[in-house]
Amino acid sequence: MPLLGLIGGTGDLGFALAVHLSKNHQVLMGSRNLEKAKAAVDEINTEKKNSEITRNLEPAENSKVVQLSDILILTVPHANALETVRSLSNGFRGNQILISAVAAVAKKGDEFVSETDASGISFAQQIKKIIPDSVKVAAAFQTVPAKVLYRETEIAADVPVATDTREVYESVASLVMEIPDLRPLYLGSLRLSGDVERLTALLLNIGRRNSLKSPTIRFPSF
Ligand SMILES: NC(=O)c1ccc[n+]([C@@H]2O[C@H](COP(=O)([O-])OP(=O)(O)OC[C@H]3O[C@@H](n4cnc5c(N)ncnc54)[C@H](OP(=O)(O)O)[C@@H]3O)[C@@H](O)[C@H]2O)c1
Repeated sequence: MPLLGLIGGTGDLGFALAVHLSKNHQVLMGSRNLEKAKAAVDEINTEKKNSEITRNLEPAENSKVVQLSDILILTVPHANALETVRSLSNGFRGNQILISAVAAVAKKGDEFVSETDASGISFAQQIKKIIPDSVKVAAAFQTVPAKVLYRETEIAADVPVATDTREVYESVASLVMEIPDLRPLYLGSLRLSGDVERLTALLLNIGRRNSLKSPTIRFPSF
């Protein structure tokens, strides 16, 4: 079983993924601060009281997470994503997969807008340029509402995955399928990752304007 690691796992999405994925995998809960990672693990253990999670979820500093994990999930805010990856880039050991959950969303007045930097390319593509070539990058989880996932409510959501090869997609998809009722869907190459990063603003605006709590996406076919 691959060792999983959450970079900046101490926020809402990190908590949610830790709870589900540590039922089947060893998971490193990463933080810039080891004490914060320990407190996050303690909080999850206290709330969930699940012996598999207690056995499999361990706290670590982000730098350790990057060195040790086979599959990494980046769960930091978009404004800090690139500086975070840059600061950790020397620690990758290669032949790993990095899944970026980063959504390009910001609040402007009473609306959410998609934000990219001046280059216009997605966060996932920019991350790929920062880290060693042998680390494969995917974008996924942008449209999954973290707090609902943490509650272990059945979500019935689709999870578009953008990455350059089918082989990497299959690895990401098998993780997604460990979470009840999440369905991975292959979107295509990493250059399409901006399309998923921008979906979050759409979901938040639709939710806010129509009093829909935690909307997500699903692709029915007829
Ligand atoms: N929340 C959702 O429902 C959701 C759903 C899908 C995708 N996403 C995406 O997933 C990512 C995480 O979302 P979130 O809501 O979990 O975020 P969050 O709670 O705001 O932050 C997650 C973690 O990022 C780290 N962090 C904060 N500021 C940082 C900085 N300046 N430098 C480095 N690390 C920093 C912190 O960890 P430490 O202090 O422990 O280092 C924090 O606990 C975002 O990019 C978001 O767009 C979120």
